[in-house]
Amino acid sequence: MAGRSVVVGVGHYLPERIVPNSEFEETLDTTDEWIKSRSGIERRHFAAEDENTSDLATNAAEAALADAGLTADDIDAIVLATSTADLTFPSAATMVQARLGMTKGFAFDVQAVCAGFVFALSNANALIVSGQAKRVLVIGAETFSRIMDWSDRSTCVLFGDGAGALILELQDGAGTAQDRGILATDLNSDGRYKDLLYVDGGVSTQSTGHLRMQGNQVFRHAVEKLTKTAETALERAGLGNADVDWIVPHQANIRIIQGTAKKMGLPMENVVVTVQDHGNTSAASIPLALSVAKQRGQIKQDDLIVTEAIGGGLAWGSVVLRW
Ligand code: ACO
Repeated sequence: MAGRSVVVGVGHYLPERIVPNSEFEETLDTTDEWIKSRSGIERRHFAAEDENTSDLATNAAEAALADAGLTADDIDAIVLATSTADLTFPSAATMVQARLGMTKGFAFDVQAVCAGFVFALSNANALIVSGQAKRVLVIGAETFSRIMDWSDRSTCVLFGDGAGALILELQDGAGTAQDRGILATDLNSDGRYKDLLYVDGGVSTQSTGHLRMQGNQVFRHAVEKLTKTAETALERAGLGNADVDWIVPHQANIRIIQGTAKKMGLPMENVVVTVQDHGNTSAASIPLALSVAKQRGQIKQDDLIVTEAIGGGLAWGSVVLRW
């Protein structure tokens, strides 16, 4: 027997405003064609001025609770992945906790940029299997539109806002790779690569700052590191690439997604792709993709899923789970 963290609910929220690539043609030296062909992105959502990360996160959390048929009283902990919290403190997670009317348990944020949701899932799983919580709400929520330099065409066309959430619940498993729930995780970071992707401001440097990225350098690391982390987690679970029903990758660039699937020897029919509609929503992209994939009827119970992500840090990792 083994305690497993099983997904019992999933949901997402996207802000109302949809911005097509063509809108950037009005203010920047760029084209819909360039953005589509280099990144796969066609449109993204941007939060309204009075809408903050905790608002997006709360809406996604409510959708996940409804999907699970649970209320906030059933939740022991909230782990929220974000790099764009409303305030320096308190955490966005505790703001969501209050909004949901949850007065017990605990809530905290995790910051690993685009790999944030994978880090949050791994931490939530550790809380569950170590007996510290029975049900954990795991959220990825971002308002990257707030840290864009709107004059930098190489970054501002790539990102979007949104939120997704999962509920993990402790269930008994047989301790085999056929169990439902999280089967293995793999987390990595290497701070020597800070300059490839960072925000040039923050609390201690006394400004908000803007996202700066050497996109082609990040690209160079992405396919190799994502393939390696996915295969490491699969191996830890006692599984191989051929066992995978769905790759649910971080949605940064269709060329990275295709390159990773190819290197893993899997066809694109086994990959969930939402980057065309959401852009790169950083820590929100994987739970958004999981929720959309369930709505589309792609992901079904007992499917084997591998999620993988890389972002600022560099930080990267993957989680293998059976839905
Ligand atoms: N419109 C038109 N031309 C552009 C644009 C644009 N929006 N942006 C850049 N260009 C130009 C560049 O100036 C450059 O021109 P030059 O050759 O005259 O200098 C040319 O296009 C090629 O630029 P590259 O950066 O080499 O283009 P590339 O093919 O690498 O695509 C991209 C750029 C889409 C950013 C890609 O490198 C990428 O996706 N990188 C990875 C991003 C990523 O995965 N980040 C990690 C997650 S994000 C996070 O953690 C927050």
